[in-house]
Amino acid sequence: MNVEKAIVGRYSCRAYLDRPVPRELIEKLLDTARWSPSGANIQPWQVAVVEGKTRARLSEALIAAFDSGARPAPDYRYYPGSWVEPYKRRRFQCGMALYQALGIERKDKTRRLEVWKENYRFFGAPVALFFFIDRNMAQGAWLDMGMFIQSLMLAAREQELESCPQASVADYPAVVRQVLGLDDDKLLLCGLALGYPDPDHPVNNYRTDREPVESFTTWFE
Ligand SMILES: Cc1cc2nc3c(=O)[nH]c(=O)nc-3n(C[C@H](O)[C@H](O)[C@H](O)COP(=O)(O)O)c2cc1C
Repeated sequence: MNVEKAIVGRYSCRAYLDRPVPRELIEKLLDTARWSPSGANIQPWQVAVVEGKTRARLSEALIAAFDSGARPAPDYRYYPGSWVEPYKRRRFQCGMALYQALGIERKDKTRRLEVWKENYRFFGAPVALFFFIDRNMAQGAWLDMGMFIQSLMLAAREQELESCPQASVADYPAVVRQVLGLDDDKLLLCGLALGYPDPDHPVNNYRTDREPVESFTTWFE
């Protein structure tokens, strides 16, 4: 697959086939992604690959945390506290497109909640990856992580796999650390659902839009 096709054709896959992903394939993706650039080549990425029984236990624990009404306590704030334009509109459109694809009305809070909870089931993906960095890293390392995760998502497409980045699963980092037996010295950035896409599921049959180049580019000559 050429790079342009891999980038433009990638989408957040939210329904997967019940088909295992061989470990060698996951290793191959990580082996490719490790060639991502990082400032001074510090390679700050730390990855937990969660499958099988641990995946099931983690999913249960995250759902329990969510159902308990426990306040999300992420290691960092992914979104701003209050939304301003044009981000407010884009975020709204993003949510609406998802609900529309699933035939859910905006006022149907119960079904919207069910859809959200699918995050904690990793959308049925057989593999869930979690990305950590050392807490003492500065903001630069976060850029490195973004590049690493995008590399991984693109490498997945080459193998006919799809993925969905997930900030939602970083809402309860203490739960993730507890189930995986990890120390508090690592900061949880986000997760990534990974697997073979279910091509027939309506949730995989809509695409988000993007603003045109001129809306975000200024040329200086
Ligand atoms: C770091 C990051 C975290 C995200 N977290 C979630 C998430 O928790 N749940 C979800 O359904 N989508 C999540 N997304 C997917 C975005 O909603 C999606 O990338 C965006 O709407 C653009 O759509 P596309 O990925 O299909 O092109 C996340 C994306 C990124 C980059």
